[in-house]
Amino acid sequence: MSHPLAPGSLEGKNVLVTGSSRGIGADTVRYFAAAGANVVINFRNKEARAVKLAEEIRATGGTALTVGADLTDADSVAGMAAQIREAYGSLDVLVLNASGGMESGMAEDYAMVLNRDAQVGVVDAMLPLLAVGSRIVFVTSHQAHFIHSTPTMPEYEPVARSKRAGEDALRARIEEFESAGVEFVVVSGDMIEGTITATLLERANPGAISARKEAAGRLFNVSEFAAEVARAAVEPIGADHTRYVGDVSDFGGN
Ligand SMILES: NC(=O)c1ccc[n+]([C@@H]2O[C@H](COP(=O)([O-])OP(=O)(O)OC[C@H]3O[C@@H](n4cnc5c(N)ncnc54)[C@H](OP(=O)(O)O)[C@@H]3O)[C@@H](O)[C@H]2O)c1
Repeated sequence: MSHPLAPGSLEGKNVLVTGSSRGIGADTVRYFAAAGANVVINFRNKEARAVKLAEEIRATGGTALTVGADLTDADSVAGMAAQIREAYGSLDVLVLNASGGMESGMAEDYAMVLNRDAQVGVVDAMLPLLAVGSRIVFVTSHQAHFIHSTPTMPEYEPVARSKRAGEDALRARIEEFESAGVEFVVVSGDMIEGTITATLLERANPGAISARKEAAGRLFNVSEFAAEVARAAVEPIGADHTRYVGDVSDFGGN
């Protein structure tokens, strides 16, 4: 894994990545820790994986805190904020990575509850911890970001609509964030090879992911996309508060 952030560049900075016990979130945490940040690894179910990642980081001299919190549960999120305050005092980067909505057996509105309401809830709970000069990074997909202009696979549509609703709810608060000295950026990527989401979508629509790959020229893998998320936490933010990862020529307008 080549590192997107300069070693030591985040020394003394405190970073929370939601949903970071596995996949994109876990690789993002690895990059922050390698740059010297004190990281918070948030998990919902995968405690053993979160603990293993924290041990891996500590073994290389880093600092990591693991916190179990279901983001759809306000008490759980408040508990996470309290643990972070106790351990680190404040936050410099909040990465809103955790996502879902294709799980079976959930309520019909679960995607909206997790991808919109819970994201807003996490921001509200963490705002008092976010220091002046800190940054919120909202992670999404092109399929969600462009859902109002470009149709997507039916299985993904509720997720896409709810993620865009979460993005819009947070974008509406950019002025408020900025007056508190907190920056906001959206990172949008195409389907990522090797993720559960891509696997589920391919199973429901055989050929869909390879067709996306062909149309886009290439798809990013988990560690490549995580590197872009990590860069989004430190690099300058464009006027539209959006960082596109990979090709967007097949997606139109906003
Ligand atoms: N997959 C793609 O192709 C793709 C493409 C572009 C953008 N993205 C974006 O990248 C981000 C990560 O995607 P991913 O595919 O790695 O996601 P994922 O596999 O669906 O899940 C990511 C994490 O979310 C956590 N999570 C789910 N529900 C939660 C809840 N209620 N409370 C707390 N944590 C919860 C999971 O924790 P547990 O493991 O503990 O359940 C997991 O660690 C998302 O924002 C996604 O929209 C993904």
